[in-house]
Amino acid sequence: MLIPNLKEAKTRSNKESIVKANEYIINNDLKELGKGKLYFLKTYGCQMNEHDSENIKAMLEDMNFSETKDMEEADLILLNTCAIRENAHNKVFGYLGRAKNLKSRKPGVLVGLCGCMAQEEVVVNKILSEYKWMDFVFGTHNLHKLPQVLEKSIKEHKLNVEVLSCEGDIIENIPVKRDSKFKAWINIMYGCDKFCTYCIVPYTRGKQRSRRKEYILNEVEELVKDGYKEVTLLGQNVNAYGKDLNDNYKMENLLEDVAKTGIERVRFVTSHPWDFTDNMIDVIAKYDNIMPYIHLPLQSGSDRILKLMGRRYTKDSYLELYNKLKTKVPNCSITTDIIVGFPGETEEDFKETLDVVNTCKYDGAYTFIFSAREGTPAAKMKDDVTLEEKEQRLFKLNELVNKYSKENNDKYLDTTVKVLLEGTSEKGEDTLMGYTETMKLVNVKADKKYIGTIQNVKIKEVKTWSMDGIIEED
Ligand code: 5AD
Ligand code: SF4
Repeated sequence: MLIPNLKEAKTRSNKESIVKANEYIINNDLKELGKGKLYFLKTYGCQMNEHDSENIKAMLEDMNFSETKDMEEADLILLNTCAIRENAHNKVFGYLGRAKNLKSRKPGVLVGLCGCMAQEEVVVNKILSEYKWMDFVFGTHNLHKLPQVLEKSIKEHKLNVEVLSCEGDIIENIPVKRDSKFKAWINIMYGCDKFCTYCIVPYTRGKQRSRRKEYILNEVEELVKDGYKEVTLLGQNVNAYGKDLNDNYKMENLLEDVAKTGIERVRFVTSHPWDFTDNMIDVIAKYDNIMPYIHLPLQSGSDRILKLMGRRYTKDSYLELYNKLKTKVPNCSITTDIIVGFPGETEEDFKETLDVVNTCKYDGAYTFIFSAREGTPAAKMKDDVTLEEKEQRLFKLNELVNKYSKENNDKYLDTTVKVLLEGTSEKGEDTLMGYTETMKLVNVKADKKYIGTIQNVKIKEVKTWSMDGIIEED
């Protein structure tokens, strides 16, 4: 049994991370474990988790499990979890209730949990006391050990917890089963060293570890050969890429090299304003295949709150960066993340946030009510904003965000944009969906033969969150 320890999870050394290229091992016995069995995988949270789930699927399929989308018929239920806010927790525990019910009817079913929640002491303690019926818990640092963890569970029939609290290594040989044949996530770094005071991620994901460029560029080149049209470079703070390496190769160099592979579209998330260099902006502006879309989390518009959050920038320096981006990368769209109700946030502070939203007129924003995460500094701060106030602020903020989102979209009416058509839309089998270069969702009534292609689409109708268009034939 290896149980998480938040104190150990927050230590940071100056050591360069270790790259391990032979750490994922699957022997012949493991390959038989899933024969004739079905797995059900549920993923919560960010793109990083989505991508981890693509690794999990590949490992399970290496073990000969097959996927089912129906939990009721599964032999293995695995929840890949997110720890960022309390409501993510609640959803997972709710789901575990359903899994328990199923297990009482089908005792052979294995139920496991992985991802960020597994790295939290509070969660594992709760599982050890109230969810003893579960089979296994493993963390973000030993994702690649899934086959071995499962083997143990199948043999021992008792709850097995294997969570490491460490800075973490870089494991290079985990297989991947991508959800899309046209766009791919690529991890360029793991972990985070920023320690924003509200955020649990530096504890659940470990030290910032940049993947070596050879592995990243090789992955992109392989994807180009396989016909992929788009890559999204992933990290908690991609702009800090390379800062933990000693070779002076930074995000601007990586972006440029990825663009030079000739892949049609390059995206990256998430950027921290602090590490956004002028050189990076120049590279984005220089290459047509680096998409003019930037997610630039603001979190708050009040200097006082930004300081309490440990964000390392001010309202003015954020706006300066914003203006530089808008000037150097014309027509680029910018989205953001904002937290309301941070401990001690006054009406005045909140007005400062609205003020920045009114200045930046974002294309979109993910907005959240502050959620205290145990073990983070902000969880210990005096939180004197009532829930009612927080909800009112969120409502007000969302109204403003929606207004600007629609106004930005309105500018697209009757224009022609390039859309990578990814698949059928929720609207029905006769409609395809895809995204513009600026990351606007577009629905197009078109034949399925267009799936996987980039088309010129004329926008005919504009809504707050999406647009409808028609393909313009040459
Ligand atoms: N409470 C509310 N929102 C949070 N986020 C991160 N931690 C918290 C928290 N404790 C938000 C931030 C971040 C996004 C991914 O989630 O806005 O950018
Ligand atoms: Fe969390 Fe801040 Fe790191 Fe983003 S940069 S993952 S908000 S600590």
